[in-house]
Amino acid sequence: MGFTIAIDGPAAAGKGTISRRICAEFGFAHLDTGLLYRAVGAKMLTGAAPIEAAQTLTAEDLDGDLRNAEVARAASKVASIPEVRQALLDFQRAFATRAGGAVLDGRDIGTVICPDAQVKLFVTASAEVRAARRLLELVNGGADTDYETVLADVKERDHRDASRSDAPMKPAEDAILLDTSDLSIDEAFAKSVAVIRERQQGLPV
Ligand code: DC
Repeated sequence: MGFTIAIDGPAAAGKGTISRRICAEFGFAHLDTGLLYRAVGAKMLTGAAPIEAAQTLTAEDLDGDLRNAEVARAASKVASIPEVRQALLDFQRAFATRAGGAVLDGRDIGTVICPDAQVKLFVTASAEVRAARRLLELVNGGADTDYETVLADVKERDHRDASRSDAPMKPAEDAILLDTSDLSIDEAFAKSVAVIRERQQGLPV
């Protein structure tokens, strides 16, 4: 039987880092589901129709520069289209049940994609803390931007992702909340590992 870990939360809360560290610790496979929406968003920016782009997405579409602010904004926009979400559903669910365990990070993993995941985490932090982290990443990557611009972007994306009618970003009822404005990433990772080990021990062998 597969072991699925759902990690949701807003941008720059630390989901990606925690997911990668969990995978390194337990040998699980990682799917960054935001990348799927980014790939569709990037195609839309080049003139493609988003629904068709989602329905015909290929592995090659995940290559390239998908980590910039323009693509992030486009991703958040296409993510509010129900047909786009529907087109990406089967791939995510198939990934979640792969043998050997899987970690999926995104916005709706614990609520819609994998409601039966053995472990659900909702990783968050204040918009200000997240904007400061994202600014550092962007500037280190050579981008020319400033804190106010990044904070406005973070808030706009939070609002759009949390207020859409189809699969809005929200913690599942049984998710464990990890607020990384108060916790370091090391502490959040340690808490996650403790929860995962506890759940693994509780499973029938
Ligand atoms: O995690 P990210 O910043 O790469 O995600 C980019 C956008 O994709 C995000 O603003 C909303 C959307 N998204 C989503 O709607 N559902 C997911 N499971 C993952 C991402």
